[in-house]
Amino acid sequence: MGKPRITTWEDLHLDCVFIIFSKLGLDDLTAVIPFVCKSWFQASSHPSLHKILDFTLLDLNSSSPLSKILSSQYSLHRFTFSGFLKLAMALSNGAADELRFSALFPPSIEVLSTASAACPSLKTLFLPRINFDDEARFLDLIPNWSDLECLEMESKPSNLGEMVKQIGANCGRFRGLKIRGSIDNADAQGIVNFLPKIESLDLSGSRMRREEALAILDGCRELKRFTVRDCVGFEVDDELQRRAAGIELFEFEGCRAEEKFRNFINHTEDLDYMLMHYGDCFELWML
Ligand SMILES: *[C@@H]1O[C@H](CO)[C@@H](O)[C@H](O)[C@H]1NC(C)=O
Ligand SMILES: *[C@@H]1O[C@H](CO)[C@@H](O)[C@H](O)[C@H]1NC(C)=O
Repeated sequence: MGKPRITTWEDLHLDCVFIIFSKLGLDDLTAVIPFVCKSWFQASSHPSLHKILDFTLLDLNSSSPLSKILSSQYSLHRFTFSGFLKLAMALSNGAADELRFSALFPPSIEVLSTASAACPSLKTLFLPRINFDDEARFLDLIPNWSDLECLEMESKPSNLGEMVKQIGANCGRFRGLKIRGSIDNADAQGIVNFLPKIESLDLSGSRMRREEALAILDGCRELKRFTVRDCVGFEVDDELQRRAAGIELFEFEGCRAEEKFRNFINHTEDLDYMLMHYGDCFELWML
C-alpha cells in the first residue's frame, strides 16, 4: 500500500473558501473580501471567480455606498465605472466568458473597447443598448470576440444587418440572439443570410410583419427556439404555426396584429378596472 495522500489544511481551507467566494457578487469580491486578510485577498483574485462579470445588480452611482467603499479601499480620488470595469477585467485576467451591463449604467464605446481587448473568451454579452454614434465603432470590436455565442440587447441598433454580418463572419459558434425593436425586411434577411445556424432567437416586444416572421422561420433551419411574445404587427394563425412546427419551442403569447389603444374615457370595463385599483384615490378625487 502506498502512503496515504496528505491534504494540507491550507488546501482544504482554500477549497472551502473558494466555494463560498464563488457564490459572491462582484461587489463583495472587490470591495470587501480582498481587505480581510492576505490569503482571502489571494483567493478572491483568482480568475476563475471572475468569469462572469455582472454589473446589472450593482449601484455604481458615484454617491452609492459601493462606490464610497471602493473609493476608500482603493484610495481613489474619484470613482468611475470604467475604472471599476478595468479592475474587474484585470481580476478576470482574460477568463471572463460572460459580461452583463446594466441599462442604468450603459457602457461607453471606450469601455466596450477595453472589454474587447480584455475579454477574448467572451461567450455571452448582455448590452442594454449602444449609442447611435457608436454603432459603427462597435462593429470593429466584434472580431475580438470570436467565441461569442449569445448576444442580448434591450434595443435594436439601427445597423443590425451590419452587426449580424460581422458576427456571422467572426463568431463561428454564435447561436443565440435576443433583441427588441422594429424588425424590417433587411434585418430579417440579415439574420437569415448571416446567422443561418442560429438556434435561439428572441424578438419579444418587437414590431414586425408577418413576412419577416415567415422569412426567419423559412431561412433559419436550425432554429430550436423562436420567441415573439408581445410582438406587434402580425397574428399567429394556423398557417404560421404550421410553418413553425419543426421548432422545439415557439413562444408567441401576446403577439398581435396592431396595438390596441385603450380608451379610458368612455369604456366602462376600463373604468371599472380603474375604480378597482384606484378606488380610494378616486373617492378622494370625487370629494
Ligand atoms: C482586440 O484585442 C487586441 C488585444 O488582444 C487589442 O490590441 C485590440 O485593440 C482589440 N481590438 C479592438 C478593436 O479593440
Ligand atoms: C367611445 O366609444 C364609442 C363606441 O364604443 C366610439 O365610437 C368612440 O370613438 C369612443 N370615443 C372616443 C373619444 O374614443
